[in-house]
Amino acid sequence: MTESSTSPRRYLVAIFTEEEQILSATRAATDAGLPVHDTFTPYAVHGLDHAQKLPRSKVTFIAFFGGMLGFLTAGCLQIYTQGVTTPLLSGWPLVIGGKPFLPFPAFVPVFFELTVLFAGLSTAFGMFAVNGLYPGKKARLLIDGVTNDRFALAFDPNGKGFDEGAIASLAQSHHVAELAWVDEAPAGEGPRKTLIKLGMAGTLVLALVAGIWAAVNAPHHEAEAPVVAAPAAPIVLLTEAELSAVAADAAVIANGEAKFKANCVVCHGEKAEGKVGPNLTDKFWIHGKGTLADIYATVAKGVLEKGMPSWATMLPPADVKAVVIYVGTLRGKNVPGKEPQGEAVEMPTSATPAAVPAAPVAPAEPTPTAK
Ligand code: HEC
Repeated sequence: MTESSTSPRRYLVAIFTEEEQILSATRAATDAGLPVHDTFTPYAVHGLDHAQKLPRSKVTFIAFFGGMLGFLTAGCLQIYTQGVTTPLLSGWPLVIGGKPFLPFPAFVPVFFELTVLFAGLSTAFGMFAVNGLYPGKKARLLIDGVTNDRFALAFDPNGKGFDEGAIASLAQSHHVAELAWVDEAPAGEGPRKTLIKLGMAGTLVLALVAGIWAAVNAPHHEAEAPVVAAPAAPIVLLTEAELSAVAADAAVIANGEAKFKANCVVCHGEKAEGKVGPNLTDKFWIHGKGTLADIYATVAKGVLEKGMPSWATMLPPADVKAVVIYVGTLRGKNVPGKEPQGEAVEMPTSATPAAVPAAPVAPAEPTPTAK
């Protein structure tokens, strides 16, 4: 009637006043092989999808994969932020209350939240996408009352098996209120296609931005790390004499052991046998010669580029001292563990394994408090 390019179609519409009527009429129509175009109801009518013999909704799958994506995102996010380094992004290992770097029990709430969030959002947006709905979408078939108290069953005259007489008698037998031809509203230039294109362009731009961000961030991040880690106050080191003065103090050793268990075992192992960090019980030392002052210097300053934190910035001075004294008692225990790292040092204290009395203020005491 209006534009001639693709003439708007007409549909034969049976209008009912009761939910039961449209249910049984639709069932009868599909059973009889009549071409049902669609049904229009003021609210969701249970069983109407089955009556129309519609295939199973895709939304369940979309929700499932949305949930999986959320789970995966939570996993990647947490593993990355807990310090795993990938080729593109370097991680950010932080010791928090002595927890291990991948505390999976602590991950569970985030896994749960992101799974639910992604599943929920993809269900909502997936539903709109599957239905072809979007803001500003115009109804194509304008049937009076279907948003109020009418239930409409539309037949497609171009469909296979269309028979106006059969439809009329079927409608009559289901107490139809009105049987009428309804014209489809003239279609626009296809806003749905425009929307799909817009969505694809948006996704592309997002992916590009994410890629650029990742590429820019990778080197940037490394360059920044030492700046962030550098403490404002200079770290005060202790001399061998200051340290050996308390080396036999049982309370200090006990405190040191507790601090070691809380902060160091993730990297150095339960018995200091070495994991990520070196074995602290053998006679091999990377930094210094294994004197208390050497150990203090390493523990206080850390070896940031190798992953050994600077403990002077994280623990009170008394605790740093205590943990160093405790590590001192482990020297020469030679707990089997990680292979030797660094250089072998003949330690005069290794003769008396368990206790390290204040006595062996070793001759080899160069007090290298330099640097
Ligand atoms: C995040 C992991 C990590 C934690 C936590 C950690 N360390 Fe280390 N530590 C290392 C690594 C890695 C090295 C080796 C550095 C190197 O190769 O230069 C190291 C080296 C050391 C060394 C020097 C060993 C040598 O051979 O010279 C000492 C001593 C040490 N750590 C003590 C401690 C103490 C004490 C604590 C707890 C307060 C601790 N570390 C916590 C990773 C860690």
